[in-house]
Amino acid sequence: MSGRIPREFIDELLVRVDIVDLIDSHVPLKKTGNNFVARCPFHTEKTPSFSVNRKKQFFYCFGCGASGNAISFLMDFSHLDFVEAVEDLAGFAGIEVPRESVEYQSTQKKGDLNDLYALMEKAAAFYADQLRTSAEGKKAVEYLKSRGVSGDCASDFMLGYAPDEWQALANQFDQKLLLEAGMLVSKEGGQIYDRFRGRIMFPIRDKRSRIIGFGGRVLDNSLPKYLNSPETPLFHKGKEVYGLYELLEKNAKPQRILIVEGYMDVIALAQFGIHYAVAALGTAASQAHLDLLFRFTSELIFCFDGDKAGREAAWRAMEPAFSSLKDGRQIRIMLLPQNHDPDSLIREEGIDGFTARVQAAETLSEYFFGRVSNELNLSEMEGRAQLVNKAKPYLEKLPESIFKEMMLARLKELSGWTGLDVLENTATLAPKQSSKQRPEIHRKPPPNSGRLSSARVAIALLIQNPRLAEIVEQREIDWDGLEFKGAALFMNILQTIADKNPATMPVLVECYRDATEEKPVKALAFLDLQVPDDKIETVFCDALNRLLIQAREASLARLLDKDKIRGLDAQEKELLRKMLTAK
Ligand code: UTP
Ligand code: MN
Repeated sequence: MSGRIPREFIDELLVRVDIVDLIDSHVPLKKTGNNFVARCPFHTEKTPSFSVNRKKQFFYCFGCGASGNAISFLMDFSHLDFVEAVEDLAGFAGIEVPRESVEYQSTQKKGDLNDLYALMEKAAAFYADQLRTSAEGKKAVEYLKSRGVSGDCASDFMLGYAPDEWQALANQFDQKLLLEAGMLVSKEGGQIYDRFRGRIMFPIRDKRSRIIGFGGRVLDNSLPKYLNSPETPLFHKGKEVYGLYELLEKNAKPQRILIVEGYMDVIALAQFGIHYAVAALGTAASQAHLDLLFRFTSELIFCFDGDKAGREAAWRAMEPAFSSLKDGRQIRIMLLPQNHDPDSLIREEGIDGFTARVQAAETLSEYFFGRVSNELNLSEMEGRAQLVNKAKPYLEKLPESIFKEMMLARLKELSGWTGLDVLENTATLAPKQSSKQRPEIHRKPPPNSGRLSSARVAIALLIQNPRLAEIVEQREIDWDGLEFKGAALFMNILQTIADKNPATMPVLVECYRDATEEKPVKALAFLDLQVPDDKIETVFCDALNRLLIQAREASLARLLDKDKIRGLDAQEKELLRKMLTAK
């Protein structure tokens, strides 16, 4: 495995690259005022609401809320993961990505990986050739025919046959590479032999079409029915799915992706014209799988067999599902009838029947609340308490989103328990954004309209100019007991600036990737306060002063109120004394 990319390199890269040039090379931009604009590449629109700001090195879409720095743009626009986006950006800037050295890294240079990819390609070609031309391969062709797999479909998925010999691959190719690629098994005593023998071979490709592993199925009832490649430098089962490359070949932006259980399910569905299915590789779908698939579509449908094992698997999938559900993403659950898998069902019901089932798949919320309230008596307090206990851990996993608020509201409705309010999002400083994938219906006013609270001005300016943290530090403010909306976010940002010492706003925003505060931080980062450069400090100090006065007044009022009604505890009394004696 290669080493980590050093944090400092990413920071420097963000400072070095100009986001306007970068985005302009993908989406031609037009200059208007301080911003560069275009029609948003992340949703359909007639008039441009996608805006890129050179000074801030940030993009923001007022239509769909897509926003971020240069790395975020590449991740979203080119469907890349974080590391790929950093590599791409470094390529754009014409610099090499350094890697933190790892002990074992020297044995695994990029050149070796290319050799491994080339070897896998050759192995797949060898297996495909065996299927088509060898005498033994005829049995495999018969088997595939008996399962209704057409020749076209077999060649779309590059199916092959591994001869029933111990050294078929070992005699043909470089053994050291074969071992590294997981294609050979080595016994104690140094003996080596082919891992896959006498099996139909399913090449597994990554989204860039490179073969990274294989699955192999026996032709009869012997065990194990399927063998998969082990973890290798190319192949990571928990991160890859079967059929994604083939799916993207047919449609680069599918409306939905169906996650099924088996190789043969993907192939049968494709043969019947359903080209939007993938399979997790003999493991449960992980969050990495879901995040990968959500780069290509906004809707995932989990498809499980209708037996007990399938129903249990569906429930187990809820954990990664909940964690991956940001706004604009949707998950549905499809349970098949008893004794069917997608392969058998589509052969029985055809594409129309199967598609109707896909369309009727339950929404995640229906499925979830049906499942958690199953066997509970909600007319009794005990039942409702159990419901909360069962549901809460899952709802807490949901990223802050409108969906989360709605799920919590539904749980509150079902249980009547108001204590749930503490779970709800407190970071409500940011303007609410509509979801990314959903095209806008009515345009939201830009987030700087309306009167801004001092807190918002102060926090936005701090994010946009991390150096202002110094001013706050010099003031040696006693934050104890000060209450204002956004206080937690303000503290959090001050702490991050102290810890990471970011040079610019995009570098600071990068610290919040995937954090709970990401959304409000990004929205405030792009808030246009129209403060001239030489006034930034003054405006910030003013906002900070007003904020402190308001916060002190609010806390004082609350303490005095409470003193009148219920009396104060010792700690509160001390706080009140301190505040009254402070200037
Ligand atoms: P199933 O047993 O449901 O098989 O396993 P299937 O896909 O319906 O296979 P056919 O129709 O009998 O050919 C589902 C998936 O679980 C993994 C494979 O990825 C398989 O496609 N699996 C299953 C294994 O990895 N090893 C096994 O021994 C069995
Ligand atoms: Mn099957």
